[in-house]
Amino acid sequence: MRYGHFDDDQREYVIDRPDTPLPWINYLGTDAYFGIISNTAGGYSFYRDAKLRRLTRYRYNNAPLDVGGRYVYVRDDETGDYWSPSWQPTPERELTGYECRHGLSYTKIASSRGGIRAETLYFAPLGETLEVWRVRVTNDRDTAAALSLFSSVEFCLWDAQDDATNFQRNYSIGQVEVADGVIYHKTEYRERRDHFAYFACSEELAGFDTSRDAFLGAYRGYDRPAAVENGVAGDSIAHGWQPIGSHHVRLALAPGETREVNFVLGYAENPKDAKFDPPGSQTLNKTGVRPVIERWLRPETVEQGFAGLRAYWDDLLEKIQVRTPDGDTDRMVNVWNAYQCLVTFNMSRSASLYESGIGRGMGFRDSNQDLLGFVHMVPERARQRILDIAATQKETGGAYHQYQPLTKRGNNDIGEGFNDDPLWLVLGVGAYLKETGDTAILDQPVPFDNAPGSEVPLVEHLRRSLRYTLDRLGPHGLPLIGRADWNDCLNLNCFSDTPGEPFQTTENAHGGVAESVFIGGLFVLAAKEMAGIAALHGGDGEKYRVAAEKMAGTVAEHGWDGAWFRRAYDFHGNVIGSGENDEGQIFIEPQGICVLGGVGLDDGLAVKALDSVAERLATPHGIVLQQPAYSGYRIELGEISSYPPGYKENAGIFCHTNPWIMIAEAMTGNGDRAFDYYRRLNPSAREAISEVHRCEPYVYAQMIAGKDAPTHGEAKNSWLSGTAAWNFVAITQWILGIRPEFTGLRVDPVLPEGWTGFEATRRFRGTTYQIRVVGAGRVTHLEIDGARVEGNVIPLAEPGAVVRVTAFA
Ligand code: BGC
Ligand code: NOJ
Repeated sequence: MRYGHFDDDQREYVIDRPDTPLPWINYLGTDAYFGIISNTAGGYSFYRDAKLRRLTRYRYNNAPLDVGGRYVYVRDDETGDYWSPSWQPTPERELTGYECRHGLSYTKIASSRGGIRAETLYFAPLGETLEVWRVRVTNDRDTAAALSLFSSVEFCLWDAQDDATNFQRNYSIGQVEVADGVIYHKTEYRERRDHFAYFACSEELAGFDTSRDAFLGAYRGYDRPAAVENGVAGDSIAHGWQPIGSHHVRLALAPGETREVNFVLGYAENPKDAKFDPPGSQTLNKTGVRPVIERWLRPETVEQGFAGLRAYWDDLLEKIQVRTPDGDTDRMVNVWNAYQCLVTFNMSRSASLYESGIGRGMGFRDSNQDLLGFVHMVPERARQRILDIAATQKETGGAYHQYQPLTKRGNNDIGEGFNDDPLWLVLGVGAYLKETGDTAILDQPVPFDNAPGSEVPLVEHLRRSLRYTLDRLGPHGLPLIGRADWNDCLNLNCFSDTPGEPFQTTENAHGGVAESVFIGGLFVLAAKEMAGIAALHGGDGEKYRVAAEKMAGTVAEHGWDGAWFRRAYDFHGNVIGSGENDEGQIFIEPQGICVLGGVGLDDGLAVKALDSVAERLATPHGIVLQQPAYSGYRIELGEISSYPPGYKENAGIFCHTNPWIMIAEAMTGNGDRAFDYYRRLNPSAREAISEVHRCEPYVYAQMIAGKDAPTHGEAKNSWLSGTAAWNFVAITQWILGIRPEFTGLRVDPVLPEGWTGFEATRRFRGTTYQIRVVGAGRVTHLEIDGARVEGNVIPLAEPGAVVRVTAFA
């Protein structure tokens, strides 16, 4: 069952009924100012950091879900009837012609009631720290209409965590100011007022409200605000409690007439050296923001801003466009998967419907992997991201697991000890170098743990990343797992030296001797990558190749179980992910990553491992993480066994890992299986079962319930997941095979049965390659602008050139 459809020409997903199984969200903003917005206008906005600079309030886990947003109310002043055109928060008011169009960084929601149509376009223009709501109201009646329009947002007192918990303080601190029709939210941010929010309207106001109590009325909700019901705003000024922003505008519309009303919600800072006179006064930098507000309330500016946003996306998406025999592939590669990759770049794991914006900031391993999916679109920003991440690395090579986007400092609450973290930096930098050829980044000075004076060239950070693994090998010569590896929930050092006494601290967890086959495979992959990087940097990379070979040998010796790769050894030296175990006999992660590192490609182990995955882990909804699921908690395994069978890391379809298997299948030449797995997860291909999948059909989710779960096939945690980047890599670089390498662009497709080629346009290092793959096998030679070239690597061309390439397969 579907709840909408793709509009491929407009690059929009059109939701045609508001009661989707879950709120289906989209993102506003492309750089510093961001927001999430659902198909019924729920969501919130923030500046740079969803925890520390939250503009508007949102209540997670509410009933109903998703109340709190950017609401507009229309009121028929003749009858007193009122409604919100976004359905929420007035769902009992019946609407006709409801439609939500989620586009690239914008959302349009429209509906009609009683012959009045309202359409609101929400977007955050490029280069500004504000969002625009463009409301168009049309009178479709054949008589004149007297209407009221109300806007509403509830302000968050900046620090979202404090805002949701510290009421003894919060109920006294809210401060607003209303000047020339603009509502300013200026609550102090503990130390001083260095920033504020504004909310403005293009029309002359009939009134306004800034006190929630005044707007809603006591004991009332957003479903029936007293001000809207009565058609009169209270001109209220909030003193503490809950500051809000609401404008009231009256509209008289002739039959057939459309009026446009614009609202602007924005973030501003006072100049750093602002002198408040007298000290501590209420002065805001109103003169600074007035011109910005006035500009963005003008319809022409709004039109231009929106056109600019559309052009920005057209340009980014042009970097890769494909035309294949499969429409779901084209749609995801050309639009939605790329879009999701850029959203994960901006958000990491911070703000979604499932990430509260206060829990997790930028993940070290997450952000490095996200980079694989967005580096081709925004290479300069990828460069900065790499430098920011590397600057949080410790001198030991160890990494903070997460850092805060606003401060860019490592997050001490979570600390370090996830022993795979440092290796992902090598892969992130490798991907950047392959895309851009910018070897200068390797010499860029980068500090350790942001400490001034500790700068070393970036390449030294990469060396330390590898060293970190080699300094921490366990009894079998495999890497120590630490707190956990990629699988956060595989906590194998749960015991201290005193049997039965669980570890409590990171320090203790470090001391454990549990080992990870996964990190072994990842090390092989990263060390080989480093050999390539070292060669670019004037070395020969030999020692990294030797280290990779040695680790590959250890993995084959102690990590092979007969028909698949083992997962780990626990604190006591017991094997995990083996036929010897009663549950958790085979895990997906090492089958993927070891093959990606090349382990088992020459001696048949890889093919065997992948056959075991097909036999034991694959389901119609994707490949589950392990089997058999753990039926109960085991202290020696940790969090993984705390999940009910079939969910999350306990045998859920943890989508992030599936593309590793797709890539591994492509590496072993099995295009059928690779593509089959790809389609099982492809959101567009799953659109028809939206009532089962339940999350948005235009983006990947982190998890789909596995076969042990009663809700097999149900997705959770959509949007912010490494699934986006890895699926993009799997389909574009390994199945379609258009793969950036240090020396050029390789064209090495491994296609499914029945395909006889495809076409692609790829912008790479300033050149546009128009690629046509002809044939169903492996590429033997290329024709580049008419000249034959043996093999499958396109040599670098002049930047600016348009090069026609035919690949004969
Ligand atoms: C989840 C993991 C997640 C981790 C982040 C765990 O509870 O299961 O998927 O990576 O929390 O802290
Ligand atoms: C989600 C985390 O963001 C990611 O870093 C981790 O690898 C997976 N969960 C698996 O546990």
